[in-house]
Parts: sequence; structure tokens; C-alpha cells
Amino acid sequence: MTVQMMARGTPIELANVADLTPLTATTSAADPQVVYGALMKRWGVVAPVEIEPGAPAWLVMGHAECIDMMRNEALYSRDPRNWRWNYENLLAPDAPVKTFSPDVPRAGSYHHDGETRRRLREPLDYALDALPEKDIVRYTEQVSVRAIDALGRSGSADLVRGFASRVGFLSTAAMLGVPDKPAMQLMRDSALISTHRPGAKEARERIGATLMDQVQQARRSGRPGTDLIAAMVGHPNFESDDEVVDSVAVPLHAASMFLGAWIARVLHVELADARFRARWIGGRIGLEDVMQEVLWRDAHVANSCAPRYAMEDVRLGDILIRKGDAIVFAISAANHDPRVHTGDSWDEVGNKSHISWGTGPHACPAPRQALLITRTAVEVIQRELDLTLTIPADDVQWAPSPWVRQPLELPVQFKRAIQRGTELPKTSYQRTSVRTPGQVARPMEAQWPSTAPPGTAPERASSWWPVTDA
Ligand code: HEM
Repeated sequence: MTVQMMARGTPIELANVADLTPLTATTSAADPQVVYGALMKRWGVVAPVEIEPGAPAWLVMGHAECIDMMRNEALYSRDPRNWRWNYENLLAPDAPVKTFSPDVPRAGSYHHDGETRRRLREPLDYALDALPEKDIVRYTEQVSVRAIDALGRSGSADLVRGFASRVGFLSTAAMLGVPDKPAMQLMRDSALISTHRPGAKEARERIGATLMDQVQQARRSGRPGTDLIAAMVGHPNFESDDEVVDSVAVPLHAASMFLGAWIARVLHVELADARFRARWIGGRIGLEDVMQEVLWRDAHVANSCAPRYAMEDVRLGDILIRKGDAIVFAISAANHDPRVHTGDSWDEVGNKSHISWGTGPHACPAPRQALLITRTAVEVIQRELDLTLTIPADDVQWAPSPWVRQPLELPVQFKRAIQRGTELPKTSYQRTSVRTPGQVARPMEAQWPSTAPPGTAPERASSWWPVTDA
């Protein structure tokens, strides 16, 4: 099917479908492709789904269709004011979906099209380009080592909460230039918001105030641009500090979630995926192969949390996308589209056509940085701990998120792999050793809560968010 198909019969509209499949069904299934396959069998490559109760959308599962739509910002807008559920007030004020699709857009490229998108995107690209790679590696190592120390001495932990989500969040905060102490507060506040616990509103305000404080400090100090905030404040495209704050809020909320999920997924492969584990340990494949395999075969950003909103009615075969409908890209399904695979493993060598970084004007600006962070985090934990999963691999549950595919928990037993006095093996990108072997007490450690008890059950499944602190 191509995007402009011939129309036939009475079209299917979102308003006419009673039994919408929840988006969480795709991410929390044992095999997401089975769920995407069932949707495609019933509807074709564009299917009606529910982001969360009361928030329907079209799920686009074809590779070519996703690419066409991602590139066409005139027809498929990223501005959430163009979502009918926003402009007709069809959502509860505290609907979780508003985190990514608020009725008032954030003043970052993420929520804008055309000229405004270009103006706001340039500083981000510039700042990411200016970020020294060795700094990214250094602070990712530091937050990884601290996360390991905070696992405590009991020898058991949940690697999702205790390591992957934390390192995802805190390395993102470090990339922005937020110092340790406010970063810890941001992480606690983010956890409050994610679980809709009392105090979430205040937490949201605190996050805004902290980011504004960081932006204004960077502006006052005139420090050189070696972190994202410092590099961005000096960019002439910004018309106000609010625009800088909104531009960094997206990486803080979404990128940290994506990074945590990628780290968790790679650890899951190592601990629970017998097929890959054997090849990895046997040396046939390396860490980067595993990371690429996740992006290709079972993308952790399964469904993009950046919906598009149709600017006019679009007829796609039997489907009628109405002006104002939301469109979600099923990146994981699109990567499996048989039209981008030949079935010949030689042809597949070097095939880079997956869309796990998006494409077009809103493509992810930070694949290189994301790769460095994920790779460094996994190398550090592999270097420091011997890990054993404490549940059967088949019992690993998947998080009920509309967007990311990641284990809900990875319960492990661990032993320190590095003994006092041994020389530290270096991570791939490491230039200087970040810790003395056996040294565990660090100034920040006292501020790190030990691993939270497992599973504050999400109050609303569709609002699931990686919990980094309880
Ligand atoms: C595992 C890591 C990551 C993955 C898989 C990922 C993936 C993506 C994807 C698929 C999009 C496009 C969504 C769409 O068009 O529908 C996107 C956008 C974006 N990503 Fe990433 N991302 C990751 C990490 C990061 C990091 C570390 C940053 C830090 C700056 C970042 C910043 C952004 C921003 C700002 C956008 C929106 C750009 C715009 O709308 O102009 N991402 N990402």
C-alpha cells in the first residue's frame, strides 16, 4: 500500500471504531510483531489504536508510509494545537498523553513546523555538535559507577530501576550541564510526575524552575559551551530563556526515557536472550552489534511518542484520516516491513534503513551521543559486576508503556567483578580511569537512595514511565 491509495467503499474513521487496540498491547506483548501483525491483518498498514483511554490515533506500521509522513510536515504537523482532542478539549486536563501532546506547545523544535521548527532546531544541532565526546563518556562513566555503588551490598537489585533508568536520566542531565545535586532532584521530581503521585504538579513546577535557574546561571557566567545548556544560551536564534528551557525539557523527558530503555534492552539481551547471549559471549558479535540489533529487530522506541496531526482529510484505501486526527509511527513494525528486507543475510549486511532515529525534519539529532552513553553504561556495568538474572528468562515482564519496549524489571544477583588493587580494564572510549578499584564511598553516594523496592504498580498503565526513584 502507498500513502495515496485508491479509495473503495465506506471509509473507516476513528470515530466509528469501537474496539480500539491499546498501544500498550504492542509494547508489553511477549512478541510485539505478533500484535502488529494482527493489526495489519485486520486493518492494513494503518490501524486505529488508543494511546490511552479517550485518546485514539492512527498507528502507521509500513516503512514507506512512516517515511512519507515523517517527511511531510505540511500535511502531518507536529504542533499539538492541531490535534482535535486538544482544540475541542476532549481530554482530561491531567491526561498522561498531554506530557508529549500538550494543548500549549513547548517552545522547542519538537512541537513546531516550518520556519519556527528550523529556528529552534538549529541551536540544538549546534550544541550537540559542540559537545566533546570525551565529556559524554566521562560523565556517563561517573553516573554509571555511582548507580552501581548505590545498588548497595545486598547482592541483589533490579537493573531497570537501579541502573538503566537512572543512568539514562542522569547522563542526560549531565549532558545538559545540570550539576549532580539538582540532577538528583530532577530525577526525583520526574519520578513523581510519572507515577501521578501527590505533589506531581509541584514537581513539574520545580523542574521548570530548576531548568530556568540552570539557563540563567549559564547566561550570567558566560561559561564556554561545553554542555548543551551553555552552548544553547549563546545561540542567536533564541528569542527568550523560556525557549531554551523548553528546548532542553524534551531531551530531559524523552531522551532520558529512550536511553534508559536502550540500556535495559541491551542488558536484557545479555542476561535473558539465549540466542544472542551465546553469540555475544562466544565473541561472534560485539556490544555494538547487540545495540544495533535492538534498534533493528525490536526497537526500544517501539512507537514514536511524537505524534503528527493531520492538517486535512487524507484517504488511504479504506481508512479516512480526518483533519485533526493523531498519527503515531510504529517504528518497531516499520523496521520489520518485509519491503526493506530481502531474507538474504548477505544483503542485510550494513543495511541501515531502520527508522529507529526517525527521519526528515524531526529526526533525532543525537544518535551519536545516544550510542556513546548506552555503550559506555553497559561497558561499565559489565566491567564492574558479575550479573545473574534471578527469574527465568520467560518470566521477564514488559513495561506497559504506549511508547517504549523495555523490561519492567530485571531482577539480578550480582557480585563485584573488580577486586581491590586490580587494574581497571578501560571502556572503549575511556581515556582516564574514573575510579580506584574497590573504592565505593563517593561524596554523592550518600545522596543516592538505595535501590527502590520493586514495583510501585503504575496507577494508570498507559501512563507508565520508567521509575528511577521511589
Ligand atoms: C536511545 C536513544 C534515542 C533514540 C532511539 C531516539 C529516537 C528518536 C526518534 C525516533 C525521534 C524522532 C521522533 C519522530 O520524528 O517521530 C527523536 C527525536 C528527538 N530526539 Fe532522540 N532518541 C534518542 C536519544 C536522544 C538523545 C540522547 C537526545 C539528546 C539531545 C535526543 C533528542 C531528541 C530531540 C530533541 C528530538 C526531537 C527533534 C525535533 O523534533 O526537532 N534523543 N529521537
